[in-house]
Amino acid sequence: MKSYKEIITELLVASDIGLAYDEILETIEIPPDNAMGDYAFPCFKLAKIKRNSPVNIAKDLSETISKPQGIAKIINQGPYLNFFIDRTDIVKTVIENVKEKGDKYGSSDIGKGKNAIVEYSSTNIAKPFHIGHIRSTVIGNVIKNLYKFTGYNTTSINYLGDHGTQFGMMIAAYKLWGDDDKINENPIKELLKLYVDYNELANQDPEKMDDARRWFSELESGNPEAVKLWEWFKEISLGEFNRVYDMLGVEFDSYNGESFSSQFIDDVIKELRDKNLLEMSDGAEIINLEDEGLPNMIVIKSDGSSTYITRDIATALYRKREYDFHKNIYVVGSQQILHFQQLKACLKKMGYEWADDCIHVPFGMVSLKDQTLSTRRGQVVFLEDVLNKAVEKTEEIINERNPNLENKDEVAKQVGIGAVIFQELFSNRIKDYVFDWDNTLNYDGETGPYVQYTIARANSILERAGKINNEAIDYSLIISDSEFELASTIYNLPQKILDAVEKYEPSYVTRQLVEIASAFNSFYNACPILNAESDIKNARLELVSCTASVLRSGLKLLGIESPNKM
Ligand code: ARG
Repeated sequence: MKSYKEIITELLVASDIGLAYDEILETIEIPPDNAMGDYAFPCFKLAKIKRNSPVNIAKDLSETISKPQGIAKIINQGPYLNFFIDRTDIVKTVIENVKEKGDKYGSSDIGKGKNAIVEYSSTNIAKPFHIGHIRSTVIGNVIKNLYKFTGYNTTSINYLGDHGTQFGMMIAAYKLWGDDDKINENPIKELLKLYVDYNELANQDPEKMDDARRWFSELESGNPEAVKLWEWFKEISLGEFNRVYDMLGVEFDSYNGESFSSQFIDDVIKELRDKNLLEMSDGAEIINLEDEGLPNMIVIKSDGSSTYITRDIATALYRKREYDFHKNIYVVGSQQILHFQQLKACLKKMGYEWADDCIHVPFGMVSLKDQTLSTRRGQVVFLEDVLNKAVEKTEEIINERNPNLENKDEVAKQVGIGAVIFQELFSNRIKDYVFDWDNTLNYDGETGPYVQYTIARANSILERAGKINNEAIDYSLIISDSEFELASTIYNLPQKILDAVEKYEPSYVTRQLVEIASAFNSFYNACPILNAESDIKNARLELVSCTASVLRSGLKLLGIESPNKM
């Protein structure tokens, strides 16, 4: 399905106006008031080229261009060439398309034959899955869904933080204070306590830090006791994380994390040495990135151990070999922007042009009013608690609004968790934001529950209507402003999906779903449906069914379920 912008652009290209396709496409605007037209092409650029006034040019074009199917009228208004969409055509196109494609409406095959890796969540073993991690998990999951939906062959990877000196610390702490029963009972909270307490101890007594380092090198060299403890920490941590992933409906194809990459470190170092990229600096070996305007990066520490970035180089090389990716997408917070710049610069220095296919997708921080999210101080808000609280609060809301609802528990889960996910995806990802319960769960705001409620409302209309007679629908009966507006918002969704893929920005889709829901509610208020005269009723019911279908599959793309009733 072509967008109207594309249709208009092709028309102007075919009319030989003297501008290239892309130039025209990006010039087309949407007028502030649809009485002026649905799309407008400003003629200022042409005026310069043709040395004529933009008003004259717009007037000439409006008289000479013949309108294609889908365009009802072309007029000039001052320096603008304005296009009026054929409303019947748009309503018909939308309804027929949604009916034909069902939950695949908006999908495409632009990614056919291409592999995309999406790395997200990347939690750290023996550390809590806190509310700060939700962003990577949720945004990454949607980017993966969007890539799949547009035809890419996707692989989702949870790059576990399961390597580094902190594991030496964990082991040293365990040797001092570890209590298996307590740990088994409450794994992350206990492991976190061990880590926090040991940190404090090491602050007072630096020798304790040496013990930790020693345990880490034991771990690296395969000391069975150290390896066994590390594996155990990993297993119980993943057990905890998986509970949260289940609640969020998130899955991974691979959990290959930092420790997995350590098997390739020696090869990487050798390659860097062979390519003359290593320099000594204070006993450590570094890659000099001065000419890139970036800080130098340490590849091997003075004690011989690898660093976070060395493991990332090894991982990128492995991923290229293993998956031959078209894109290798890292959904990681904006604190690591510099890290990924260095990683790319280094891969480039190694001679890998595909470094440009490694894409860091950063996002801003989330905070809870008045609370910090630092692990070191042990003041952490656990994501699982937030999700449980969302479900509880939703149960309260349901008991108030609709106490006799069937399947209350299930609905409260879908709505409560859906609300948290939706909130995460609503703002531009790069913005920091403060998590706020009232916004998140508001049934009347720009929220998940609002969209879900709109679906339930549409379902209830359809249920009351019974079987729709959808033979010979007369689409010209449903072209009033609110009907046309609703059809247009649905019409624009596929383009928003493509934009979201191109810019790694789920909020394009999230916002469009709110647009559709709110256009539906205006339509619902403006147009009687079940009480309308039979032909009109049938046509409107088609629009209702179409809206329900598109909103439901749209939420599914975002990883959100929608209850039939709420
Ligand atoms: N585990 C890291 C953290 O929690 C994120 C890992 C990011 N991914 C990467 N390839 N470096 O901060």
